[in-house]
Amino acid sequence: MEKMWAGRFSKTLDKQADDFNSSLRFDNRMYKQDITGSIVHAMMLGKQGIISEEEKAQIINGLGAIVKDIDEGNLTFANSDAEDIHMFVEAELTKRIGDAGKKLHTARSRNDQVALDLRLYLLNEAEEIGALLKELLGVIRDLAAAHRDDIMPGYTHLQRAQPVTFAHHVLAYAMMFLRDFDRLGDAARRMRISPIGCCALAGTTYDTDREFEAERLGFLGITLNSMDGVSDRDFCVELLNVFAILMMHLSRFCEEIILWSSWEFQFVELDDSFTTGSSIMPQKKNSDMAELIRGKTGRVYGDLIALLTTLKGLPLAYNKDMQEDKEAIFDAVDTVKQCLAVFAPMIATMKVRSDNMKKAAGEGFINATDLADYLTKKGVAFRTAYKTVGEIVAYCIENGKVLESLPLATYQQFDPMFAEDLFEEISLETCVKKRISAGGTGPESVQKQIDFITEFIND
Ligand code: ARG
Repeated sequence: MEKMWAGRFSKTLDKQADDFNSSLRFDNRMYKQDITGSIVHAMMLGKQGIISEEEKAQIINGLGAIVKDIDEGNLTFANSDAEDIHMFVEAELTKRIGDAGKKLHTARSRNDQVALDLRLYLLNEAEEIGALLKELLGVIRDLAAAHRDDIMPGYTHLQRAQPVTFAHHVLAYAMMFLRDFDRLGDAARRMRISPIGCCALAGTTYDTDREFEAERLGFLGITLNSMDGVSDRDFCVELLNVFAILMMHLSRFCEEIILWSSWEFQFVELDDSFTTGSSIMPQKKNSDMAELIRGKTGRVYGDLIALLTTLKGLPLAYNKDMQEDKEAIFDAVDTVKQCLAVFAPMIATMKVRSDNMKKAAGEGFINATDLADYLTKKGVAFRTAYKTVGEIVAYCIENGKVLESLPLATYQQFDPMFAEDLFEEISLETCVKKRISAGGTGPESVQKQIDFITEFIND
């Protein structure tokens, strides 16, 4: 088919160059947004008297029929040689309605058109990803509620540090995902500004109504500088940044699930429907889904860096380099959606082995801080108490003992302030219950977190 811009050229485009140049195979996913934008553009052109009412109606009807045909599979992109989705739709329209179709592109350019389509498309995707995040938060909340008082070792440096509840541990991730949700909304708010009407770069000589178009399309306002409007892709970068952080959170959670489901930990057991076997080792049950999500995190970081790098040297205004924005952001959108869709049911169905967690918490001098606190509350300075407990731990290790089973008489050789009540003080249950500070692992704080998430979900 003849190119729309053929007028200035005496030769046709080389076949390989044509394929190389075309973005239709990946930007066709924006067909709905492209057509919605064009319908509103035609409405505006009609309202302003730039095209006739008759032409406006023909264009709007034609576009409506095109979107229906694509939706129903009666019009496909497969054999089209259109340069992109914008050209595809316009050519199809003109094929169907004739001369009126040729008026649609008055007072706009593909440069503002692509900026518009991408914003509309990504706003929709951001909403869907927000809904997936909410679902995930619900799963974490349920996990926390079901294991509110189940004790596990809390780690620092991957060494057993202090007892925490499983609820407190997973709720830490809920807080991260809450912030991701917030960041998503923040990025969406800045994205909700309309570039349509910026035209190629400098605006237009027609008396257009950009506000009308923006309002009809659900935007909060219009870009105030036309060169910025067509050159700006920081809304994509911001979204990629949100995705990169979200994936980083998912990846850390996955790493823990991989560790926890190892034979060494056995804190959780993933459901058969979310694990795979080995082709050679019959005993294996691999946490492939968690590993894949961890792996795909690298890919989303790559998308972010790719776009930042693409943009860094571009002079104003539009440059073809910017067509590269789409594959990066689409890949990240697809990846994030896939990961969230698999991760939530994976953790919803995993078995939590509270017995093993409790056992692990009882084996590693995890209550040593509480023993030092015990002495401190009896009047011993914390540093002195800390040193004494250090010596007791060393003694226990040397003699194959744990704090719970060391006789009181032995304790008293280290400090006469020790009394029978120390054993109650260092029981794991007490250690957790007495962590009463705000935001700590104590039951009141954990319940408060659960309520906070519930309120957010129901909002
Ligand atoms: N397919 C192009 C893109 O994705 C659309 C804009 C093309 N504009 C132009 N002047 N070549 O960036």
